[in-house]
Amino acid sequence: MQSIQVRLEDYDRIVFFTGAGLSVESGIPTYRGSGGIWHEYNYEDYACQRAFDRDPERVWDFHDKRREAVAACEPNEGHRIIAAAGGTVVTQNIDGLHGRAGSESVIELHGSLWRVRCDRCGTNEENDHVPLEPRTCGCGAYLRPDIVWFEDMLDPLRMSLAHRAVEGCDLFLGIGTSGVVVPAALLPRLAAEAGATCIEINPEETPASGWYQHHFRGSASEMLRKLKADSG
Ligand code: OAD
Repeated sequence: MQSIQVRLEDYDRIVFFTGAGLSVESGIPTYRGSGGIWHEYNYEDYACQRAFDRDPERVWDFHDKRREAVAACEPNEGHRIIAAAGGTVVTQNIDGLHGRAGSESVIELHGSLWRVRCDRCGTNEENDHVPLEPRTCGCGAYLRPDIVWFEDMLDPLRMSLAHRAVEGCDLFLGIGTSGVVVPAALLPRLAAEAGATCIEINPEETPASGWYQHHFRGSASEMLRKLKADSG
């Protein structure tokens, strides 16, 4: 870790840009790297609209399993430090743990495991039933998880809210993300070009590392604890 003094309290427009690495300490696996979800499951069978159109029951079996696993997990210290610091959370995570930790301003770029929608009648609602029962909407069509699957577009409103927060932030913390999934992966560049102090928290270097001035190599909660400790 670089020996720089960063005090969270010295910044009043913080953006926490988070990925799956933040939830590792809660017991939720990442997507890539060893033990990653996309090593065990082929996204083309479980996480794209084509798979859902072909076999919605199979796709729901996968998502019910994920909902069950995530429901058994708790926010970890990293989520709690972020919630206590305030600021804006721009997350790629769909697990809902930022909200459960008490963060109030959370932009879920990739949607949420805990919302379902119907693409026929437009219903979109929170739903924490595990397993989801019934899997169909009142209009008769299959509900689908309101998450951004491979090949889906990101919600333009969420993306523009994220852009606005990042362009206006004075501290940008990228935490636990591999920086390979666009357009989210372009946000560190946006923050750097807008003049924010940019810090990456990740045990490993990533393709986005070059956009950050400072790199904290270690687990999310340990490194966030340091930033908090540095805050005195
Ligand atoms: P990835 O699985 O691609 O990357 C996880 C990152 O977390 C890696 O860079 C790890 O080095 C890092 N990491 C691992 N353990 C950590 C720890 N304890 N503390 C901090 N960092 C740690 O996950 P994302 O970047 O979030 O999309 O993936 C982006 C998107 O790809 C996801 O939102 C998901 C996936 O397809 C959807 O589900 C829509």
